[in-house]
Amino acid sequence: MFPAASLLTILLLALSIAASPVEIRDSPITLPIARRLNVSGGTINLLEYDKARVAALKDDRHIGSIAVTNEVTGYIAAVGVGSPATTYNLIVDTGSSNTWVGADTAYVKTSTSVNTGQPVDVGYGSGSFSGTEYTDTVTLGSGLTITKQSIGDASTTEGFSGVDGILGIGPVGLTEGTLTNSPTVTIPTVTDNLYSEGTIPQKVVGIFFGPTTSQTITNGELSFGGTDAAKYTGDIGYTSITTTNPASTYWGINESITYGSTTILSSTAGIVDTGTTFLYVATDAYNKYKSETGATVDGATGLLLVSSTQYSALKNLNFNIGSNTLSLTPNAQIWPRSLNTKIGGSSKAIYLIVADIGTPSGSGFDFVNGYTFLERFYSVFDTTNSRVGFAKTSYTDATTN
Ligand SMILES: *[C@@H]1O[C@H](CO)[C@@H](O)[C@H](O)[C@H]1NC(C)=O
Ligand SMILES: *[C@@H]1O[C@H](CO)[C@@H](O)[C@H](O)[C@H]1NC(C)=O
Repeated sequence: MFPAASLLTILLLALSIAASPVEIRDSPITLPIARRLNVSGGTINLLEYDKARVAALKDDRHIGSIAVTNEVTGYIAAVGVGSPATTYNLIVDTGSSNTWVGADTAYVKTSTSVNTGQPVDVGYGSGSFSGTEYTDTVTLGSGLTITKQSIGDASTTEGFSGVDGILGIGPVGLTEGTLTNSPTVTIPTVTDNLYSEGTIPQKVVGIFFGPTTSQTITNGELSFGGTDAAKYTGDIGYTSITTTNPASTYWGINESITYGSTTILSSTAGIVDTGTTFLYVATDAYNKYKSETGATVDGATGLLLVSSTQYSALKNLNFNIGSNTLSLTPNAQIWPRSLNTKIGGSSKAIYLIVADIGTPSGSGFDFVNGYTFLERFYSVFDTTNSRVGFAKTSYTDATTN
């Protein structure tokens, strides 16, 4: 008898030798992920935190060891490290690629923990970690393991209270420069190692998010090696990773955006990012959207504000990606009203989730399809075929906000 996991691996390996690029609809590894909106210290200016991340991503400051995250909000996965494993709550981040622990729960070393002696250092938009690199056994989901994953053991962290570290699932190039004594070396990510150790047949990560209407909720799922067909409807439409810098260093794609039938952003490059909350567009696109919707800027939250009459008149916001059009309904364009007061807003107000990236289009980084976009579509991050895919879910057109 093969254990179920190896049978699955064999099946999936068999599948992967079929015509390429093949789509694997039953991931061998899925794990639940929980949304966290940490505003326990009262209300926070979420837009300000989010903008710090976007600014750092956009400035391409990860070159020479800077990547970024937003530690106020995020998706958390429970990941085991060591043997016996200690479970750490790690932020799932497509915008950075190092995996490390020790911010809250200290790294518990076991017989599988091997000190590589390499100092590791990553700066984020509004925080940082530095420490020592280890390799260790990492357990994802129900017992599937990576035997020699690079793990940062943080000795100093800034801005990571309430979480233990990061599970970095961005492109491997973002790790370059993070081993300070070996600045040209990249560190294989968890996805790379699952693949090289034969656990997954392709370097593919599938992400499902449900809409978040409370502060902490386990409503997401992360899949390695394939997608979870139970979480989306119809087909996944793919588009190639963009060749335009700096978007190309992340999960970057080309897209154009229309509001109703009005083009607000012509085809240009930007990124897809789980660690950004709002939907950012170039200033010219933002201004067009603002005037089309009639929205005003709210002083308290910094977000666009509409009246209930204007909300009733909202049109779909359409994203043309590859040969597909993905539409955010009017309800998908507003912040969950149940969380208005958590971000310093008033409970009855209607805030839009479209925000200004701060520079005109043409910068090579003209949008960020953040969490408020991703909670409406299943997303697929496919390193093997250099592409990003999206599919509809049961929440695409749902009224949740
Ligand atoms: C939320 O953030 C504060 C610091 O801003 C921190 O003290 C607290 O532990 C965090 N709580 C959770 C649940 O993450
Ligand atoms: C994306 O847009 C750029 C600029 O228009 C273009 O050069 C490139 O071919 C497009 N497609 C990809 C996959 O980068």
